[in-house]
Amino acid sequence: MYKKQTVIILLFLVGLYACKKGLDNPFLGFQKPSNFPEPAYRFSTNEVTKAGFELGRKLFYDPILSHNNTISCASCHISYAAFSHPGHNVSHGIHDRLGTRNSPPIMNLAWSTSFMWDGGIFDLDLQPIAPITNHVEMDDTMANVLNRLRISSVYPPLFEQAFGDRTISGTHFLKALSQFMVMCISSHSKYDSVMRKEGIQFSPIEEAGYALFQQKCASCHQEPLFTNHAFVNNGLPISALNDQGRYGITLDSNHRYQFKVPSLRNIGYTTPYMHDGRFSSVEQVLDFYNSGVQKTPNLASSFNQNGRLGISISAAEKTKLVAFLKTLDDVYFVRDKTLVEP
Ligand code: HEC
Ligand code: HEC
Repeated sequence: MYKKQTVIILLFLVGLYACKKGLDNPFLGFQKPSNFPEPAYRFSTNEVTKAGFELGRKLFYDPILSHNNTISCASCHISYAAFSHPGHNVSHGIHDRLGTRNSPPIMNLAWSTSFMWDGGIFDLDLQPIAPITNHVEMDDTMANVLNRLRISSVYPPLFEQAFGDRTISGTHFLKALSQFMVMCISSHSKYDSVMRKEGIQFSPIEEAGYALFQQKCASCHQEPLFTNHAFVNNGLPISALNDQGRYGITLDSNHRYQFKVPSLRNIGYTTPYMHDGRFSSVEQVLDFYNSGVQKTPNLASSFNQNGRLGISISAAEKTKLVAFLKTLDDVYFVRDKTLVEP
């Protein structure tokens, strides 16, 4: 009797140990999902390592990057909202100063070749300089930030582990942040499971929505990333602020009112929508495409066919499209424990 109990307890402990081991998944670095194209990010210049990723993650959540130690990257890019800023039409930064644009989600950026709503930044490794030095965001200088990191007690050894150098250069600082950001991969939505034939099917209404989506939306919101990475004017009424998008970068009048086509992955978590967060629901967005598109300069030609502006979407089609778009939400991504504050 006594022996049997010992055996059971021993088996239990072995089981517990095996479970614990199973949860401690080894760090695999950057893995391309099988239904995604080759990434654009140059991994040959910045290979993702466990130490580099963990350093980037710590930096991303640390308000030490802002002038008065109050704002971190994560203040405006929140993990449970696919790293967007839920409920904020435009960003709120240091001293509660207001920005002019909506915080985009940080996901699948290894496949992007331009960043920001106007594509003003073309290299992910240069992206963090913008918020750090922006007056309304973190309002500091790179030199100040690097100095604070150098005199801290925690960061020099972490940089040494990640890059073999404890002096903390701007390059290593930016590469660490990129290592964290490229690992923010969203590829476990229902849509992905269906595409990868993981034994899950669309419901009939989702299937019907998918067909409509391919017909009416996919020319810009191209699968599997749900963006073609182009700059397009989708006909939003011009707001009081008169943000002219891509034109502000190129000063080419053919680019007035063009904005980067955003991905539609995780829109269930990233409300409000558009570059200025003007719409608070997907239904509002579909109503806009159906009846709110304006003929402003450089309107996408597909939105002005035979005198009809926008995309016709009936009430029944709207329900189907909404059902399909929900399959792009990725609960595993927004709950991924390896991406939350360390
Ligand atoms: C005060 C809010 C705020 C803070 C703080 C902030 N961001 Fe952002 N972020 C934004 C907004 C707003 C945009 C879009 C700006 C635009 O298009 O002009 C953006 C854009 C981005 C993008 C481009 C995404 C894309 O798909 O084009 C990346 C990457 C990014 N931020 C990373 C960071 C990092 C890294 C930090 C910290 C160093 C940071 N952000 C801090 C608000 C913020
Ligand atoms: C001609 C290109 C084009 C087509 C076709 C198109 N869109 Fe868009 N879409 C855009 C652009 C550009 C934006 C961003 C505009 C801005 O913010 O100024 C956008 C924004 C959105 C947004 C907001 C996303 C966010 O994160 O803010 C949603 C949702 C959306 N589109 C859904 C759809 C749906 C559904 C369809 C089909 C019924 C569709 N789009 C067709 C170009 C297009």
